[in-house]
This record gives sequence, structure tokens and C-alpha cells, in this order.
Amino acid sequence: MKPFALFAVLSLVLAGAFFSCGGGSKYVTVGAVGPVTGPAATFGISTKNGDTLAVDEWNANGGVLGKQIKMVFADDKGDPAEGATVYTKLIQQNKVCAIVGTVMSNVSLAGAPICQAAKIPMVATASTNPKVTEVGDYIFRACFIDPFQGTVGADFAYNNLKARRAACIYDLGNDYTKGLAEFFKAQFTKLGGKIVADEGHDHGVTDFKAQLTRIVQAKPDIIYNPDYYNDVALIAKQARELGFKGPLMGGDGWDSPDLVKIGGSAVEGCYFTNHYSKDDTRPVVQDFIKKYQAKFNEVPDALAVLAYDAMNLTLNAIKTAGSTKGPAIRDALAASDFQAVTGEIKFDANRNPIKSAVIIEIKNGQQQFVTTIAPTP
Ligand code: PHE
Repeated sequence: MKPFALFAVLSLVLAGAFFSCGGGSKYVTVGAVGPVTGPAATFGISTKNGDTLAVDEWNANGGVLGKQIKMVFADDKGDPAEGATVYTKLIQQNKVCAIVGTVMSNVSLAGAPICQAAKIPMVATASTNPKVTEVGDYIFRACFIDPFQGTVGADFAYNNLKARRAACIYDLGNDYTKGLAEFFKAQFTKLGGKIVADEGHDHGVTDFKAQLTRIVQAKPDIIYNPDYYNDVALIAKQARELGFKGPLMGGDGWDSPDLVKIGGSAVEGCYFTNHYSKDDTRPVVQDFIKKYQAKFNEVPDALAVLAYDAMNLTLNAIKTAGSTKGPAIRDALAASDFQAVTGEIKFDANRNPIKSAVIIEIKNGQQQFVTTIAPTP
């Protein structure tokens, strides 16, 4: 390690030890991160809302450890470099005792080593790539991971949609989309299906015609496109222009009100895997939707629910730890058995919760719940 890097890490560790947020201060200070601007801005807006609702509820009930909670929210802009900057700032300047977030796996992968080095627990809200929690024992998440999500997608494509020929298109510069495509392909092939086209594209491009032309020529039953909603909408439109009539399928990155706004009829009849459905009739879900709607005047998406869950889980761990010290919060998080809106959160050895997924169909421009798929025990 270069002397400067060593110094930076050491000062983070010392800052964490001496100024951890409880000691002497009036507040318990918690960090939160999400992409409020940039290519996936709806993710961040929902995330901030979910975080805020949770903190406001705790504060109305007396806060935690006898103090009010101060949430410092930072915008990672959906960018790993910006993510690294804001995680560092939250720890060094704001002296947060834990960080809730972020959403996109490649940004969480930039923040996680910073939290790990400083011994500040991090609970990613919605980052599903397995590598995120592998960074170390201070890194947790509130969502399932992509080996499960990709398997669920492939099972649904093969068993329910009766697809036998699948094509994949994904962003080569994004760990999340590349990883999820891999897990889908592995399961789809294992079931006896055939991957008839496998197309990566560069990050940030908007013309996918070359890849889609090859895909359409291969005559797939479905196109699996596990990307974020902006790219998905463009890819769906261009696939339709090239004559593809079957369904596209994807993962949680599709969950945005902007998917249909941009994609229009091109995403009609398409499917994606997700963490939650607004149509879930369980009282815990419907109560949450009511509270959220009353405050923000809209129906929460999965990002909002996961942020709410992750924030509640984190504050609950601070409470059970009886402390704002990183190692104590980490131990309490690891031992969690928490009833969240998206389901029970209990961590496996890699600090990943085992949770169900739902399948959503886009029908008449709306998200429609299709089915819930539980992990096989
Ligand atoms: N799972 C995505 C990722 O890891 C983020 C995401 C989660 C987006 C849920 C939308 C909904 O990058």
C-alpha cells in the first residue's frame, strides 16, 4: 500500500474510533446514499423517500438510544467515482455510524471497501451483485442476490413462458447486468433451453441495432435484458423496430415509472423479476403503501421499500447493539432476524438475506403482479 493510501485508511479507522456518532453528540448520525441524479434518478428519489419515512417514524417514536436520529443523505449520481467520494465524506466529515445504501451494484462496490476499512457498517439497499458483500464483514444488504434472481428469471422463461430459445443483451461495463445475464444463461441452459444469441454492448451507448439485428436473426422466443430502465426502454423500442414480437425479460433494474414512459408499447407484455409488488395483499405491505402514499403522494416502488427496510434494519441493529460503535452494530446486524416489508431478513454466512422474488408483467402500461417465487430451501 502506498504511504498516502495507508494514511487515508488509518485516518478513517481513527476517525471511526474516536468520533463515532453517538459519543457526546446530540444526535445519532446515520448516512444514506442513492442516485438522485444521473442515468437512474428514479431509483435515488424513491430510495431517499423510503429512508426518510423510516427515520421520521423512529424519531416520532423517540429516536434511538435516547437521541434523535440525523440522516445525512448523499447523491452518488449512479457513478462509482462519485460514490467513493460521498462514502468517504459521510464517514470523515459527517461522522456517521452506519451507511444505508446504495442502489446500483457497481456504486456499492466502490463504497464497500471504504466502509470496510473504516469499520463502518454498510447496508446496501438494492445492490444484488454477489460481489458487494464479499468485500468484507461490515457489508450487508437488504435484498436477495443475482444468482437467485437470474435463476428465477430463467425458470419463469422456461417453465411459464415455455421459451426454449433465449437471446441475451447486456452492458459490458456494468457488473450488475453482466452478472445477471450470466446467472440467467447458466440456469436456462441447465433446464434444457438454448442461448441462441449472446450480445454485450459498451457502456453508455444508445444504438443497439447491430446487436439486436444479430439477435432477431437468431429467432429467439425471448430476449433477456437485465439492465436499468433507460437502456431497457431503448432496447425494447429498437428490438420492435427490427421486427421482434416476443417478450423481453429482465431483472429489478426495470423497476421505474419511467420504463413505460420511455418504452411505451414496446415494453407491453414484457416481464421482470423484482423484490416486491404493490399488489401483495399482506397487511404489512398494504400498511406501508398507505403511509408512503400519504407522505409522498405516489405508490412506492421496490427501491422505496428496500430503502425503508434497510434503514429500519440498521436502526434496529443500533438499538439492539446499544451502541453506535461500528463493531457492535456489525455484530447486531449479523444476528438480525428482522420482519421487513419485503419479507424476513436473516443473514447467511455472506451477509445476504434469503428472500422471495416476484414476477411482474407490464400490462396496459401498468405493473401487474404475476407470481411469487420462494428460494428453494
Ligand atoms: N439490483 C440493481 C443493482 O444491483 C439495482 C436495483 C434494485 C434497481 C432494485 C432497481 C430495483 O445494480
